[in-house]
Amino acid sequence: GGRGRILQPAPQPRGQEPPRRRSMRLLREEHENRREEILAGDRKAVDRQHALGKRTARERLDLLLDEGSFVEIDMFRRHQAHGLGMEKRRPATDGVVTGSGTIHGRRVFVYAQDFTIFGGSLGEAHARKIHKVMDLAISTGSPFIGLNDSGGARIQEGALSLNGYGGIFRRNVQASGVIPQISVVLGPCAGGAAYSTALADFTFMVDGPAQLYLTGPDVVEAVTGQRISHAELGGAQVHGTRSGVATFVHDDEESCLEDVRYLVSMLPGNNLELPPRAPSRGAADDPRPRLAEIVPPEPNKPYDMRDVVAEVVDDGEFLELHENWAGNVICALARIDGEVVGVVANQPLVLAGVLDVAASQKAARFVRFCDAFSIPLVTLVDVPGFLPGADQEYAGIIRHGAKLLYAYCEATVPRIQVILRKAYGGAYIVMDSRSIGADLSLAWPTNEIAVMGAEGAVNVVYRKELAAAADPAGRRAELLDDYTEELVHPYYAAERGLVDDVIDPVHTRSAVARGLAMLRDKRAPAAQRKHGNVPL
Ligand code: HXC
Repeated sequence: GGRGRILQPAPQPRGQEPPRRRSMRLLREEHENRREEILAGDRKAVDRQHALGKRTARERLDLLLDEGSFVEIDMFRRHQAHGLGMEKRRPATDGVVTGSGTIHGRRVFVYAQDFTIFGGSLGEAHARKIHKVMDLAISTGSPFIGLNDSGGARIQEGALSLNGYGGIFRRNVQASGVIPQISVVLGPCAGGAAYSTALADFTFMVDGPAQLYLTGPDVVEAVTGQRISHAELGGAQVHGTRSGVATFVHDDEESCLEDVRYLVSMLPGNNLELPPRAPSRGAADDPRPRLAEIVPPEPNKPYDMRDVVAEVVDDGEFLELHENWAGNVICALARIDGEVVGVVANQPLVLAGVLDVAASQKAARFVRFCDAFSIPLVTLVDVPGFLPGADQEYAGIIRHGAKLLYAYCEATVPRIQVILRKAYGGAYIVMDSRSIGADLSLAWPTNEIAVMGAEGAVNVVYRKELAAAADPAGRRAELLDDYTEELVHPYYAAERGLVDDVIDPVHTRSAVARGLAMLRDKRAPAAQRKHGNVPL
């Protein structure tokens, strides 16, 4: 090639000119049409969804998120599957809506499965959309919320569907203890999808449409011959009362999503943030005379511990987890003087407030959640002990009780124990006693900390003496009096520093508020091990 030669474009063969660009107006119109098609969805399927009393994915996001805050991601993503007629069935988008928005002004990431597209079933595109928002939730330190309504793994996409689920579970676990994860079940949620709810911190279910099981009624019948309905196998009632899988059960989608918002308002965005504080209520100087009336001084008389919780927390308002499962222990999120706390309390109304397998599991998981997310623990104790019996031993009460013990021992958040009445034996130790690391232990004058109640104790210790006594009944009464005088009062523990103060019951709210303020800057050294081996 000589110098100064000018390169000319090759001459175009006739009839093959480059295509003319469409005008901006046309491009924008096409974009708008595509969006409209996606937003409108399939009319017939939407009507069917409504007829089932269910909202569409987008209607649900409108209820969940602050108005106008939703930023959608991957709207145009759709399945790339081949075979089984999938080339011919290509809806304009896939069966899940993903993105980000705010709740009471604070950022969250979400997905909402869309049952109107392939029954909300999860194929590759669907899974990858969820992976993307999970990754963003983790990298931005924001709570993650999944709205589930799905037929499970998309059958036509085979192993790619299963692979997609695996990617969700792995992210659930990576996110565990880093960002709060909330799973909301608003329709079917079968097979693999059920595991994602179990890996989340909280599971909401709507009574009626929600169905949660690993294998549905058809498979159950084929394998075991047992005929069982969807509701009996995995309805909200079953999981809210028997299995403990549902943390919250609601009658309708509206109240359910409203409570998700309430929950999020009490949680930090991630493990490096503190939970959002509300303004102080002057709780440090707030006597509550009702507290002296609610709790009868006789150790075996029942009362509703919820009434005590309501007197201690701000505005009498608290969000109770597992309201109808393991009711013998109460776990609730609330505020005290504006500060978010996790309340763990024995409930004398149910099984006399004993600890059993279910109560230990429920409280252990809650304690670990609070500890992971910097939520101080307030433990209200009135416990006769662990539930005795072969059923409990065979069900592994030793393992499960150890779980609760482990959870408390490990917790580094501020921990305040308040012993209202009785605290006997191992249950006293487990319910956040000073010996396992409570920062502050307060006792009411009604308090009895002891290895066991007076009757049992006297029978064991003075068996021989009673057998030999001239007047066994009279001697027994004397010994009971002695035992009670010596041991069964809070001053035995207070004189030895096992409780830090004996308080007037009416000052419980103020004492806890002052304790929380005192402990606010508590720091704990980082653990020097890979991880402990919590008894699971
Ligand atoms: C593909 C599915 C589907 C699925 C439903 N659809 N489930 N498409 N894969 N898994 C489609 C239906 O073909 C139908 O499409 C539309 O969604 C609505 O479904 P219907 O059956 O008409 O709805 P309904 O009567 O309300 O029943 C809902 C249902 C039922 C109970 C969820 O569809 C069902 O049993 N689906 C299969 C559930 C299942 O076994 N999934 C696999 C789980 S195992 P058209 O085109 O007719 O509208 C699993 C493994 C993961 O998930 C394991 C990971 C560890």
